[in-house]
Amino acid sequence: MAYFGRILLLSILLVVFVNQSRAVCGYESCPETKANMVNIHLVPHSHNDVGWLKTVDQSYYGYKNKIHHAGVQYILDSVVTQLLQDSKRRFIQVETAFFAKWWNVQSETTKRAVTKLVNEGRFEFTGGAWSMNDEAAVNYQAVIDQFTVGLKFLDDTFGACGRPRVGWQIDTFGHSREQAAIFAHMGYDGQFFSRMDHNDKDARMNNLAMEMIWDASESMSGVSLFSGMLYNFYSDTPGFCFDILCTDEPVIDGASEENNVKQRVDDFISYAQNVSDVYITNHIMVPMGGDFQYEDAKVNYKNMDKLIKYINERQASGSNYNIFYSTPSCYLNSLHQSLQSWPNKTQDFFPYAHEKNSFWTGFFTSRPTQKRFERDGNHMLQIAKQLSVFANLTSEQHNQDLDYLRQVMGVMQHHDAITGTERQAVSDDYDRMMYDAIVGASNNARDALRILANMPNGEFESCLRLNISECAFTKDGADNVVVTLYNPLAHTSTQYVRIPVKEERYQVTDEKGRAVPSQVVPVPWQVLALAYRPNDTQHELVFQATANKIASYYIKKVESSEAKHSTIKQISPGEDGNSETVVENSLVKLVIDNQTGRLKSVEMNGVSEQIVQNFGVYKTRTSCAYTFRQDGDIEVLENDFEFTVYEGSLVKEVHQHVNDWISQVIRIYEGANRVELEWLVGPIPIDDQLGSEFVTNFKSGISSNGVFYTDSNGRELMKREKDKREDFVSDLSRQPVSGNFYPVTSRIALQDDAKRLVLLTDRSQGGASLQDGALEMLLHRRHLFNDGGGVGEALNETQYGKGLIARGRLYLTLDSATDGDTATERRTEKELLLPFGKFFSTAGGVQRAAAKSVPDFDDLPQSVHLLTLEHFHENEVLIRFEHFLDKFEGRVTSFNIRDIFDSLGGLAIRETTLDGSLPLSDMKRLKFHAQESGTHPASVEYSTARHKPLEAVKSDEASLFAVTLYPMQIRTFIITKE
Ligand SMILES: *[C@@H]1O[C@H](CO)[C@@H](O)[C@H](O)[C@H]1NC(C)=O
Ligand SMILES: *[C@@H]1O[C@H](CO)[C@@H](O)[C@H](O)[C@H]1NC(C)=O
Ligand SMILES: *[C@@H]1O[C@H](CO)[C@@H](O)[C@H](O)[C@H]1NC(C)=O
Ligand SMILES: [Zn+2]
Repeated sequence: MAYFGRILLLSILLVVFVNQSRAVCGYESCPETKANMVNIHLVPHSHNDVGWLKTVDQSYYGYKNKIHHAGVQYILDSVVTQLLQDSKRRFIQVETAFFAKWWNVQSETTKRAVTKLVNEGRFEFTGGAWSMNDEAAVNYQAVIDQFTVGLKFLDDTFGACGRPRVGWQIDTFGHSREQAAIFAHMGYDGQFFSRMDHNDKDARMNNLAMEMIWDASESMSGVSLFSGMLYNFYSDTPGFCFDILCTDEPVIDGASEENNVKQRVDDFISYAQNVSDVYITNHIMVPMGGDFQYEDAKVNYKNMDKLIKYINERQASGSNYNIFYSTPSCYLNSLHQSLQSWPNKTQDFFPYAHEKNSFWTGFFTSRPTQKRFERDGNHMLQIAKQLSVFANLTSEQHNQDLDYLRQVMGVMQHHDAITGTERQAVSDDYDRMMYDAIVGASNNARDALRILANMPNGEFESCLRLNISECAFTKDGADNVVVTLYNPLAHTSTQYVRIPVKEERYQVTDEKGRAVPSQVVPVPWQVLALAYRPNDTQHELVFQATANKIASYYIKKVESSEAKHSTIKQISPGEDGNSETVVENSLVKLVIDNQTGRLKSVEMNGVSEQIVQNFGVYKTRTSCAYTFRQDGDIEVLENDFEFTVYEGSLVKEVHQHVNDWISQVIRIYEGANRVELEWLVGPIPIDDQLGSEFVTNFKSGISSNGVFYTDSNGRELMKREKDKREDFVSDLSRQPVSGNFYPVTSRIALQDDAKRLVLLTDRSQGGASLQDGALEMLLHRRHLFNDGGGVGEALNETQYGKGLIARGRLYLTLDSATDGDTATERRTEKELLLPFGKFFSTAGGVQRAAAKSVPDFDDLPQSVHLLTLEHFHENEVLIRFEHFLDKFEGRVTSFNIRDIFDSLGGLAIRETTLDGSLPLSDMKRLKFHAQESGTHPASVEYSTARHKPLEAVKSDEASLFAVTLYPMQIRTFIITKE
């Protein structure tokens, strides 16, 4: 009955509202404020994790509420109904993954009602990406993609009024500078969050520095983002949670013994005063909401209505508190109007600690295999997107498959997904989604390659288990197999390819039939011994391949006399009585200590250095998915390692056996200027009932003076200094190790005047430099402690009934410390993030066929990266060019994209903000004034695009297609096609 009543009410309200005056959204729709009062912006919001204690769908449907009371569909139903009842009420919607799911099943009537609420600024999108992404473990490419997906949905659905103006990173565990830069490049006016180191927050409270202007790029000047720290945690306005999930007092205003209006108003005003004391203007923002709140929104709004009524009533008797429903963007607009100036910020907000024993540095590494799987997802997504453009794949199925992977990757960036801070069952569900989505997108890649590689019957199978050298396609041998490589990078690349094979002789030839040198190397026995790894193949065929975009290599079994094969030499240490074993090729020389079995020194790039690698464990009782809490010093594994060396002319490998749960391959390829270290770790023992933080460290004699560098989301390098922070003193008394760890998304480095030591990673990890010259990486974690307040489960990952085994790679380079040389690291980084995609077909009956020509990006300047190429709307292609060197490594570069435009069949091109949905010429951001200038602004200021947006049509002359990029700049274009 109640249900029908609600529908009737909804219909009546609709009629009423449709007849209202002209709609305005955005800043024009903001509530009026009072100049001489403390203006309290009450911001109703619900924080809806895209998976955490429950899966995405369980959280959406309100299933398994015994685990966690969470039902997003009901929240949206309820909020919309409540908004329609009173035009003053507002709500912000953050996670587009949930909103889209809800929107797609609404009636036309509800859709019209919501559209009206959006057009009036009462239902306002804030954040608006597919998920509220993490900022430590994410790569910028995936963040930009997931904003593109979210903002495109909002733009397609609501147009300009659906576009968020403000970022809302309230629950993210620390904040990166690159994220701030991404917001700025997408035209956001500011962002708000609520987690930073407690010492930092205390200092900022005292210094009126809770709100600041973040100078978000070292290389590009003028990239700034207003960033505000909330007074209290996002979910707590102490004593004023009116949600059905809370037990705080409602506002009771009847003629009742329980009437508490005076007390409630007094309490709220006193809280507001405390908040107001630590902020610069006469505006404060008070978020009202929390995790999965507003399921019965009338409870929230009814009480907030009363609070507003009685607080404002006091103005008649002299109170100067003015309270109203608002949004973060309206609050920001008020700050902008206030003509104040603000302190600046240049570094970032890592690591986050909420108290001195709790540094949230464990999540930089938690769930290491899932962190790697996410990179595989990104890899397949980029390949499938590019290939779909080249092959013009636009069938409904193709679009759906690609969209699904786009969305799943958006979910994976969520601050409880890529972080590894979700429950095991949720993690399993993420894996399930990612697997399905990768398989779907790989069908796009296959269908595109059938057209483009001129092999209409090719299988183009992508083997997803190459990380354990396993591929069903080659399990019976690789006789007559074609490997088609797809290079997602702009420039022609030469890389080594490894294919699981039986130990036989093979001949590899290229498209022109030319023989390509190859080598067969044994797979380490520790990998063969992995439970559930089919043991059909125990070797890998290695060869060097070159691809501009698409290249096929043919593999045939041959008699040993025909094979153009390098023979492999197996060397056991100490055979010749020497105390060390030298493994070298034309670029790199490694020395292994025969006694300890450890790496001892490295020589490359004309520099030589003693570099000793060790493995170690921090034993702990109290680490969890989020935090790394050491109980004692590192326990370094002291035993000697057994090792065997396999040498061939292409690759040389040192197979080290450390103990029954740790092994490693150290590998150098001919012509490749780096050392690859492929580690295999697990199950981490728990017989002692203790948790373990498993690390590897590299000690050198480089005098780094406590300084080291880690990347910000795969882009600019951040300077780190042991035991130091930019703006405050961190209390490291309890956690001197953990408190010195930083997120490493792609690399960590240190140097002195002469030498530079760098580690690149294949996934996000925590990293530190705890002693001069030393780098330490947190590779794997296993814990038994159930952190009651957080995820409520120990981070004790198992697989096949045993502790999880993880395998991954670090890449070490040693170089002279000359300015600009780090450009090589950037190229390596791109090659590691986006290596060749490998697709397998049978060669039987296939003619050796050259690939169709596809648009060529090889002519772009060497410092330019093809960041994105994908279908956007129908007959539209989105393309992003990135200058991937920083201002120390590269300089301004210019090129012309007329040829690329033509080869994509372009009719017109326009430049947009970084996300693709807003024409760059329409971008207008609130500009905030820095305190350092010493003055206050005289009037409100705005900023627009810093260069003239490119806009051209086919008939225009080529000069209009010129693109200039500053170091680290990314430019986004939409090409309209025939
Ligand atoms: C930020 O403020 C500090 C201290 O006032 C000043 O030294 C620094 O140059 C400023 N940085 C920027 C980028 O304005
Ligand atoms: C895998 O097969 C090889 C060759 O037949 C054999 O030597 C090895 O012991 C097998 N390993 C396992 C774990 O079964
Ligand atoms: C895809 O479309 C472009 C532009 O319309 C055209 O030039 C190209 O030949 C098409 N490619 C394929 C493989 O059909
Ligand atoms: Zn959250």
